Amino acid sequence: MKILLTGDRPSGPLHLGHLVGSLENRVKLQELYNSFILVADTQALTDNYHQPDLVKEHVLDLVADYLAVGLDPEKCNICLQSALPELLELTQILSNLTNFEELKHNPTLKTELAQKKINNLSFISYPVSQAADILGFNADVVPVGGDQEPILQLTNKLARKFNEMYKVELLKRIEGVYSETPRLKGVDGSSKMSKSLNNAIFLKDSLKEIKKKVNAMYTDPLHVKISDPGHIEGNVVFYYLDIFDEDKLGLEELKIAYQKGGISDGATKERLVRVLEAKIGPIRAKREEIRAKPEYLKAVLKQGTEAARKQVQSKIEEMRKILFLNL
Ligand code: TRP
Repeated sequence: MKILLTGDRPSGPLHLGHLVGSLENRVKLQELYNSFILVADTQALTDNYHQPDLVKEHVLDLVADYLAVGLDPEKCNICLQSALPELLELTQILSNLTNFEELKHNPTLKTELAQKKINNLSFISYPVSQAADILGFNADVVPVGGDQEPILQLTNKLARKFNEMYKVELLKRIEGVYSETPRLKGVDGSSKMSKSLNNAIFLKDSLKEIKKKVNAMYTDPLHVKISDPGHIEGNVVFYYLDIFDEDKLGLEELKIAYQKGGISDGATKERLVRVLEAKIGPIRAKREEIRAKPEYLKAVLKQGTEAARKQVQSKIEEMRKILFLNL
């Protein structure tokens, strides 16, 4: 079976953007690959080093989110980055082969550095550490968002450099599996959904919170009276209905009626709340049930991490031999 690696930084709760952009895909892929899902707490600390308690708090939350959306510990290995110290050793080895000037121009990193206004060394070198994750796991496929593509290119470059430098065929070329769903927009309708932009609907949101967020959505400034014709274009409620409403026929009828006039924004929002609750409600319920069992979540993480450790150790042993670090 081919090996799949992907993961998330535990720095906040997962939201609808994660669900449609990556989680649903992972649930399918766990049937087809030997899957490792990395809870990247060490990476999360590179930009959250001033609040380790926040990272800690989100580790089990993330595991709960994973299980609630259908990742199955019998089918995939959910593992903890900080419990895999071999990855740090591998980062160091790959750092030898990393050109600093080139790294600084990595588009993923450049964007994040500008956004976060930080310049600590561990953050600047996180793409190298992510390459180490990928190569350490001997991954064949790495499903990530399109914004991470430059990191995968760096990974392939480092693998090739290593193999050429030491005249071995040890590190594997990976295929990126970029998510096909375009980035889900936030409830503000403008930029991509993200916790830091304060425009996210979280998988743990209560019905009340969902209602509040939907009610605040931008609709149509020309639709003043209910009888006025409404516009679909730019209407955030319809943007979400298009993505999440499974009753396509009913939705088409609603659109026609709305454009004619006579349908209130309250009614379209009510429909959206129903549709979102149908999606999130079961996830929330399962999440609450398992989040109340931290021992179970820890056991899942432990089991996945043990499997991951075996995987990573065999790779690092080979590398130590090549670099004479095995005396
Ligand atoms: N950078 C990823 C994120 O921000 C998390 C991550 C860490 C990752 N290591 C990885 C993803 C290895 C894929 C493969 O969500």
